[in-house]
Amino acid sequence: MRAVIAITFALGVLAPALAAAQVSGEAVYRQRCAVCHDSGNPRVPSRDEVKKLSVTRILRTLDFGEMQNVASKLRQDEREAVASYLGASGGSGEVPAKAYCVDRTVTLTGHSKSAWNGWSPALTNTRYQPGDAAGLTLSQIPRLKLKWAYGFDGDIIAFAQPTVLNGHLFVGSASGLVQALNADSGCVQWIFQANGPVRSAILAVPLGDKHAILFGDTIGWFYSVEAETGHLLWKKRPEPHEATRLTGAALAYQDTVFVPVASWEEARTTNPEYPCCTFRGSVVALRIKDGSEVWKTYMIAQKAKQTGEHEWGPSGAAVWATPTLDTRRGLLYVTTGDNYSALATPLSDAVLALELATGKIVWSKQTTPGDVWNTLCSTKGDCPGPDYDYGSSAILEKLDDGRDVLLAGQKSGIVYALDPDRKGAILWQTRVGQGGTLGGVEWGMASDGRQVYAATSDLVRNQSPSADPLNLNPQIVDPKIGGGLTALRIATGEKAWFAPPIACGPAAKPGCSPAQPAAVTAIPGVVFSGSIDGHLRAYSAEGGKVLWDFDTVRDYQTINGVRASGGSLNGPGAVVVGGMLFVNSGYARQGTIPGNALLVFSVDGK
Ligand code: HEC
Repeated sequence: MRAVIAITFALGVLAPALAAAQVSGEAVYRQRCAVCHDSGNPRVPSRDEVKKLSVTRILRTLDFGEMQNVASKLRQDEREAVASYLGASGGSGEVPAKAYCVDRTVTLTGHSKSAWNGWSPALTNTRYQPGDAAGLTLSQIPRLKLKWAYGFDGDIIAFAQPTVLNGHLFVGSASGLVQALNADSGCVQWIFQANGPVRSAILAVPLGDKHAILFGDTIGWFYSVEAETGHLLWKKRPEPHEATRLTGAALAYQDTVFVPVASWEEARTTNPEYPCCTFRGSVVALRIKDGSEVWKTYMIAQKAKQTGEHEWGPSGAAVWATPTLDTRRGLLYVTTGDNYSALATPLSDAVLALELATGKIVWSKQTTPGDVWNTLCSTKGDCPGPDYDYGSSAILEKLDDGRDVLLAGQKSGIVYALDPDRKGAILWQTRVGQGGTLGGVEWGMASDGRQVYAATSDLVRNQSPSADPLNLNPQIVDPKIGGGLTALRIATGEKAWFAPPIACGPAAKPGCSPAQPAAVTAIPGVVFSGSIDGHLRAYSAEGGKVLWDFDTVRDYQTINGVRASGGSLNGPGAVVVGGMLFVNSGYARQGTIPGNALLVFSVDGK
């Protein structure tokens, strides 16, 4: 064993020394990275955005992260050269000693009522926090002030929703560092390094006399980590496909955890030689105690076959969002994305009911048939699909007459109410946006039992007028189009009110847009919605009036001493627990405003 380590080490030292003189980071970039990172494609961070990352961070992305597959063709010296060519110095992601709490004990027993655990406080995915747990009332909203800010060192995106329970906060980050913080002060209790970026919200579950936190990363690993200590209990890849990414938070019921499985294979098609595509979305049920598989259900029945020189199919139907629990019927509701390649299949862009115990598909309702789309389409423009994925979870609600209803918001801009007792038959449908690749309902609605609140993205990107010779296909975010928040009556689908989007001001940063793709959160009387313009706004649930508006795009003095700034709000939504409001700010994708801050608000900042 020792000899093996010694040899590897010697090679590691020798290789760069031999080749250092020849390798140009710029050349590696042009040959291996520019095709995507200079493409102007909304799914790929631009060269300027990547340049804000540290050298260490870029290397980690190449070695273990999202660029692992691209980098597998590169020698170590080429990786180092391209990382130093692109990267900024500093920002190693390590937590400075003074950021740790004096008392690092994490205790989760005797769960207090004040918790937001996983994607939604209710397993029906309402994203509604009742008054006693929220600890925040309508009249207190205007007095919300920043309490503390935490910086994710060296990151340009803060896209993980925090989980808060028993005064502890668990949150993932783009560097793959999962941190346990004291929710009141922001000091660090422990950190855990995952293999890839952790975007999914974290789910805490009891395990013997301790607890496990369960989460996935964007390179396909799923983890169980002891909540009290941050020690790894088990990890596995629930799906072997190499483009797998886990974005949706897991859901647990009794001894089983249900993991939604998505991929970024759609974006691999920026390489025209990529054999597109072979990934199939799925939900995987694992035993919490050891990660062993209980069942796995694919959203496409058959495996992909080769259909042309670089063409494979069918593929896609990724599951981006947390499944929804229906204990009464013994079901799990799942929403799916588009197909990446032909042929179109019946379970893409659909809402499905799966048997909790077996994973068997009980019924499905496809709302957009024939949606075949991949990233190449945004440059080539000749694909059948409109790219109308479901990126958000279905919400299970009860009507006044005792009947149940499933609410689903799609990137098409339509919100559906489905009947769970009649195989998902459509009860009503209402349009809340134009829809599109980055349109409609993106990451999640909220419901207070009477109204469902749907924020509209409708992010639009235009050709840039500037003539930057390094940018092959420059596109900029439209500062005027997109956004808006609609309240619909759950019983009928009628619009109760519409709060119009607020256009970006003349002083706004590049990357500003009024689009509201971030998941919505509700507490009694109040609805929270974040925008690409970086503002987090609180709206009155009664008429949609803006009660409070905080522009997160600014620099922060952080509790952990890291330089941090806020940016676009996208992906997860705000979390309200025990009188505190938590939100992550910064989203350097799609040309929107980068940032790396976790922000916490409370009444008068106390
Ligand atoms: C086939 C297209 C493609 C190629 C080639 C490619 N990238 Fe990427 N890269 C992407 C996409 C897509 C993302 C965004 C992934 C995501 O977060 O969804 C990305 C993200 C990144 C990130 C940010 C990851 C993070 O953690 O925020 C870095 C750094 C990066 N790429 C570096 C590189 C380097 C260096 C090269 C060349 C060696 C390269 N990429 C080549 C498509 C590509």
